[in-house]
Amino acid sequence: MGPLQIKELLQTAPEGQGVTLKGWVRTKRESKNAIFIALNDGSTIHNIQAVAAPGQFSAELVQQVTTGSCLKITGSLIASQGSGQAVEVKVEDIHIYGTADPDVFPLQPKRHSLEFLREIAHLRPRTNTFGAILRIRHALAFAVHQYFNDKGFFYLHTPIITASDAEGAGEMFRVTTLDLDKLPRNEEGQINYKEDFFGREANLTVSGQLEGELGAMALSKIYTFGPTFRAENSNTTRHLAEFWMIEPEMAFFELKDNMDLAEDFVKTVIGYALENCKDDLHFLQNRLAEEDKNKPQNERSLPLLEKLSFVVDNPFERITYTEAIDILLKSKPHKEKKFQYPVGWGIDLSSEHERYLVEKHFKKPVILTNYPREIKSFYMKLDEDGKTVRAMDVLFPGIGEIIGGSQREEDYEKLLGRVHEVGIDPENLWWYLETRKFGTAPHSGFGLGFERLVLFVTGMSNIRDVIPFPRYPKSAEF
Ligand code: 4AD
Ligand code: MG
Repeated sequence: MGPLQIKELLQTAPEGQGVTLKGWVRTKRESKNAIFIALNDGSTIHNIQAVAAPGQFSAELVQQVTTGSCLKITGSLIASQGSGQAVEVKVEDIHIYGTADPDVFPLQPKRHSLEFLREIAHLRPRTNTFGAILRIRHALAFAVHQYFNDKGFFYLHTPIITASDAEGAGEMFRVTTLDLDKLPRNEEGQINYKEDFFGREANLTVSGQLEGELGAMALSKIYTFGPTFRAENSNTTRHLAEFWMIEPEMAFFELKDNMDLAEDFVKTVIGYALENCKDDLHFLQNRLAEEDKNKPQNERSLPLLEKLSFVVDNPFERITYTEAIDILLKSKPHKEKKFQYPVGWGIDLSSEHERYLVEKHFKKPVILTNYPREIKSFYMKLDEDGKTVRAMDVLFPGIGEIIGGSQREEDYEKLLGRVHEVGIDPENLWWYLETRKFGTAPHSGFGLGFERLVLFVTGMSNIRDVIPFPRYPKSAEF
């Protein structure tokens, strides 16, 4: 089925075998004795080198073989004359599928800045860096499904278009079928309309959790893995308007079970990448080391593979929000008034606080639990003290919050009370509230931001660089 890919060829093909290669030219180098073409088809970070003799092909054809052009090369595998690879291909024939005029093709064989590559998001998958990131992203997604399947979870498809605001944070994109051009405008030119999806209000989902809970109340253990949307105008290196979230939801799990699952889950999928993405991780590790070369010793990051192994091999720290506040109050930056946002019980931790806990104090991932009810969502189970809820956030070095989750409030009256308290109309959530009327059960779940995981595993520093086509304010047109 289809041609042999370069990855398979480098692994398995015996010398002397006739081969057909199809891929894009990374570089072409001409010397007195040979023409060297490095070809890549995206199946691996490695190129395969094809070698032709000078004069073997017309000057016109050789001129058309440029970085970015797409070729079919037939020839035979031979032991490589140069160092760095075991085999190369002695070229017998070249067919050009598509040229790439070097005067206009923006990807040339040199290091381009990530900012520049973001502007050409349609071409950046063809770079080594983005090839590596996309293959790792795939491996992680595969590992997620494998993990849950092995543990008896069912993949539940939750809706993208929904009426509810699962997080109650009002960060939804509205969906409408109305022709906004035809609606009347007021004096300020604003459209006066009621958002409408065939007669009902509708939004793009911010989370599949509430529907996930319906699934858990029937199948016991489910997970979602789909796109979610947040209409926040945030221009940070950790936020996207469209991101993928993994949300397991489990009947009969309490907060501790939830933490155990979250920790085991992230360790397992990171372990999978370590095991299965060695070449790409090594490439990214070298790339980071290159970047670090000009930094002072104390600002250099741990080699990527070491950083990942450390997370897999060591238990996460588990502390309550109240304990975290105590640590922060005793910390040097607090005493020296170096935090931008002052610390005190009740505050929503900002990223400087989270980073202090994870990167300076514990120097490892931390699970923070039992947050004040005021700063968490309505569906979280109240603790006995009535002041805190059974929330858990998993914080990662260099990332901040990677997972948010909780044990859910299973008591109908208490949940209804919270719905009123936060100002949600219970009419809109009648279907959700019914889970607590009919056969309610203790249950828990969490959400992992997939891009934040990919960010951590690849060692990249901007979330816009770990999703193929990032959506953010003023992102690319397609
Ligand atoms: O903490 P959040 O908002 O929690 C929920 O949505 C819950 N319903 C999850 C659950 O309990 N089932 O989001 C969960 C995670 C965050 O920890 C973060 O990793 C990621 O989603 N996230 C984002 N990632 C990229 N861009 C954004 N704008 C994100 N907002 C949240
Ligand atoms: Mg959160």
